[in-house]
Amino acid sequence: MELLKVESDIVEAQQPLQLTADNEIVVQFEQVSFNYPSRPDSPALMNLNLKIAKGKIIALVGPSGAGKTTLFELLQRFYEPQQGSVKFNGINIKQLKLADLRDAIGIVPQQPVLFSSDVWHNIRYGKPSATDKEVISAAKRAHADEFITKLPQGYASFLGEQGVRLSGGQKQRIALARAILKDPEVLLLDEATSALDAESEHHVQAALKDLMVNRTTLIIAHRLATVKHADLIVVMDNGEIKDIGDHQSLLVSSDLYKRLCELQFTQSPNH
Ligand SMILES: Nc1ncnc2c1ncn2[C@@H]1O[C@H](COP(=O)(O)OP(=O)(O)O)[C@@H](O)[C@H]1O
Ligand SMILES: [Mg+2]
Repeated sequence: MELLKVESDIVEAQQPLQLTADNEIVVQFEQVSFNYPSRPDSPALMNLNLKIAKGKIIALVGPSGAGKTTLFELLQRFYEPQQGSVKFNGINIKQLKLADLRDAIGIVPQQPVLFSSDVWHNIRYGKPSATDKEVISAAKRAHADEFITKLPQGYASFLGEQGVRLSGGQKQRIALARAILKDPEVLLLDEATSALDAESEHHVQAALKDLMVNRTTLIIAHRLATVKHADLIVVMDNGEIKDIGDHQSLLVSSDLYKRLCELQFTQSPNH
């Protein structure tokens, strides 16, 4: 009960503005500084400026603790920056309805959460009004249908703690199916750091390629193949953007990027 009584620091705008999707710049961070409430003296992001144009694929790279996940969290307005503003299609996200903002964003997390419920429910979470046909079609595009139909009860199989155990790659494909069903304007993707089994890896990559077409996509990247395909790579460290560019130019201009390439990005995360 105590937990339920906690009020969120994030308040809805009194007179929210209408979200439109006709802006050239879809996401913009302007002079954003942020520290987590529990760590007032250590900024997670500092004076961050970033503009992301419609339809582009942006890769965020940097050592652990650089602020990549924090940037995703601020964009979804899970926290409020102490300074600066985050804009979505040109509007400060504080002036948008939370539901409108979050409806426009799809996320495929590193470790997707599955509910103790059947496959239907787990995928339909992306769009509660979806028909069975739409759920199956999304699962097919996420390359998930083939393993789902092999489960003991197919789409009616129970997942989660009490249910069928799925591999990391299969969980990611369920999360991808959710995102496909949601069809969001912006896709946030936190690439898995540990290797998926070879078959899942292939399916996840193929489904993602399909999902990113004509969609503004931000990827926290751990793979060389991903950064090579990005339109723009943002190199972060200690809450700051250190360099921005493409793979070839950053190899020349950014020592940090060069080091990350040598140490972290390998074709497959575990090799
Ligand atoms: N919930 C949290 N509470 C307090 N500090 C956090 C929290 N999440 C992340 N941090 C801190 O914020 C900084 C940025 O973290 P994060 O955005 O998770 O980095 P990355 O995703 O690049 O590894 C780190 O110093 C991290 O320890
Ligand atoms: Mg992270």
